[in-house]
Amino acid sequence: KQYQYLLVDIKGQNSNVALVQLNRPKALNALCDGLMTELSTVLESLDKDDKIGCIVLTGSTRAFAAGADIKEMQNRKLAEVIGSGFLDQWSAVTRIKKPIIAAVNGYALGGGCELSMMCDIIYAGETAEFGQPEIVIGTIPGAGGTQRLPRYVGKSKAMEIVLTGNRINAKEAEKFGLVSAVFPPDRVVDEAIKTAEKIASHSRIVVQLAKEAVNAAFETTLAEGNRLEKRLFHTTFGLDDRKEGMTAFLEKRKPNFTGQ
Ligand code: HXC
Repeated sequence: KQYQYLLVDIKGQNSNVALVQLNRPKALNALCDGLMTELSTVLESLDKDDKIGCIVLTGSTRAFAAGADIKEMQNRKLAEVIGSGFLDQWSAVTRIKKPIIAAVNGYALGGGCELSMMCDIIYAGETAEFGQPEIVIGTIPGAGGTQRLPRYVGKSKAMEIVLTGNRINAKEAEKFGLVSAVFPPDRVVDEAIKTAEKIASHSRIVVQLAKEAVNAAFETTLAEGNRLEKRLFHTTFGLDDRKEGMTAFLEKRKPNFTGQ
């Protein structure tokens, strides 16, 4: 299927990884309404696609995404942004059950940084730059920048980034815990696909439970989170894949997961 703002490809030796590339190069992948609508539609359909085990989201060498579309926002009024639920479709990304790896090269600014933080793992190219420059243009982050960033990097660093609008480079982002690994720019997508293939080799349903459990760590108390984890762990005992995984280990062979 053809999209206006996206390229979608199937990757991996077993064709079980989807590569979604933001493709609005003239505006440095600024995340206009049309792009975000396409992105949520594509991610939702990949989430339902039995052949796909993991999704990689990337941009171009120059920009993962330079933010929400400033041109589109310039003349918007208060009643209009409230009434139309501006940014509502962004949270679709956080409802995807399959893991999403962000492979970030170049600018990940404002909404671009926020989009990467909605993903489950962030890999960065050496030339990547992250930031929340909204303050510079008279507004504040609106898609999780003030909430997810402190959870990644702590309050002091998050405040510094949000209040100054200064960008941090890939190395700093790794040091602060925003990204899990840095690679040469031309390697980052391949490395993300490699990790995605590894994830896709596991039981689909168990991967989904694991993602749900880790995400709960950011939503609940430790006691509630541990309770949920225990129940999700118990849940795996209702699955063929749990039995198969343990049996395969003991029989010294590779498991054959069915997603049941
Ligand atoms: C619309 C954008 C854009 C954006 C870049 N462009 N960022 N258009 N929205 N966010 C466009 C430019 O207008 C320009 O178009 C073209 O992309 C190339 O950009 P340049 O500025 O010429 O490139 P460069 O000099 O290399 O600078 C790159 C840059 C700069 C540092 C990334 O573009 C920049 O500062 N962009 C804005 C970053 C930002 O403030 N992001 C936060 C947005 S607010 P023309 O037509 O002139 O070629 C936000 C709110 C989040 O994200 C709320 C929740 C989603």
